Amino acid sequence: QVAAASGHTVVLVDQSDEILKKSTKGIEESLKRVIKKKFADKPEAGAEFIKKTLKNLTTSTDAASVVHSTDLVIEAIVENLEVKNKLFKTLDKFAPEHTIFASNTSSLQITKMANATTRQDRFGGLHFFNPVPMMKLVEVIKTPMTSQKTFESLVDFSKAVGKSPVSCKDTPGFIVNRLLVPYMMEAVRLYERGDASKEDIDVAMKLGAGYPMGPFELLDYVGLDTSKYIIDGWHSLEPNNPLFAPSPLLNKLVEEKKLGKKTGEGFYKYK
Ligand code: 3HC
Repeated sequence: QVAAASGHTVVLVDQSDEILKKSTKGIEESLKRVIKKKFADKPEAGAEFIKKTLKNLTTSTDAASVVHSTDLVIEAIVENLEVKNKLFKTLDKFAPEHTIFASNTSSLQITKMANATTRQDRFGGLHFFNPVPMMKLVEVIKTPMTSQKTFESLVDFSKAVGKSPVSCKDTPGFIVNRLLVPYMMEAVRLYERGDASKEDIDVAMKLGAGYPMGPFELLDYVGLDTSKYIIDGWHSLEPNNPLFAPSPLLNKLVEEKKLGKKTGEGFYKYK
């Protein structure tokens, strides 16, 4: 959405036409929210902005068949290294020489994905934040193999889509998630111990620390499955680090398919 809205030609790829239809609808809804603010007094200019953005966007269910005409691939699939590497290996065969590959992973090592391809110097991380149309930050991740030219291209692209890039080494969680995820897990542990209710913890962090959402609201917003993938991955890397300890309650909710806002229930219920 943000790439198309800033004039880039985008092919959105997903597994089925049904998912793509849902995604396109989601983008249309989000664009309507964007224009409400951006073109508050100019509804015609707003409608034109949506039309132009959607014109820049096409969809496909076959990544290999569309990658031949891309300068940049941004992968944002399931948080599973094997699945990501399989995709990158395939795309590496069909993408032009100059094409840069980037992963939007929340927690996995970019270096391990780069090593699944033959373009380690043209591989980096581009980590966006939910909701992407609103959140200004992008973390640009440079592995020891990422060339300076690739890094600069990723920084330039982030600016071209209207974001403020920061750079970080290829360390677990980069900057934001390395601080945010242990904080959210501490909130769950506080609640699990019965020290405070989830509602009070959320109110406390909003009113006492100025956060726009409390930790439970944010967990539900990001998705409990995503949070679990992140913490489980780090726990397997550092089993003795108490910040990365899994939570029985989080595991139970994921097992029950209560994944947060997207499934209608997580820590809270949604209509
Ligand atoms: N698309 C377009 N616009 C959107 C939007 C979307 N998906 N979501 C919200 N907005 C717009 C609304 O239209 C609204 O615009 P307005 O001010 O003109 O009315 C504005 O954002 C504010 O929205 P709301 O009034 O609905 O609600 P809030 O004022 O509470 O803001 C929020 C919503 C921006 C999501 C805010 O609550 C927030 O900043 N929350 C924290 C988000 C956060 O921490 N994200 C990071 C998560 S971690 C992550 O993503 C990393 C990953 O790896 C796990």
